[in-house]
Amino acid sequence: MPTIRFTKEKKEVQVPEGANLRQEALKAGVSLYNGINGYGAKLNSIFNCHGLGLCGTCTVKINKGAQNASPMGFLEKLKFKGLPTPDPMLATVNALHYIGNEDTLRLACYVKVNGDMDVETGPEFNVTGENFFS
Ligand code: FES
Repeated sequence: MPTIRFTKEKKEVQVPEGANLRQEALKAGVSLYNGINGYGAKLNSIFNCHGLGLCGTCTVKINKGAQNASPMGFLEKLKFKGLPTPDPMLATVNALHYIGNEDTLRLACYVKVNGDMDVETGPEFNVTGENFFS
């Protein structure tokens, strides 16, 4: 059974192989809807697409074990590359956040867990850091 470690929450759960990351996080009481650097978290927790892959609010970063996640699908790639969403601000942030994190940034609702992984929920978006414009 794969183990998911939610690093910010310091929580570890064992899940069946092929389990959906979003569903397992919610079952474990881990909040995926953390807004943009914490802003909008309350709104996102209400106004999200509930796992349909449409809103982009369930973005996570798989810091370890990304190879154990199911491959990124076509729609997920489009989402990170600026596919219009109900929230254009979020679409822009996701697209910018994706640069440099192509192998680790995922939408939790798309990910099937096939092995151990360390997951960072609500990855911070660094708009002033040295890597932003590089
Ligand atoms: S919950 Fe909306 S994209 Fe994952």
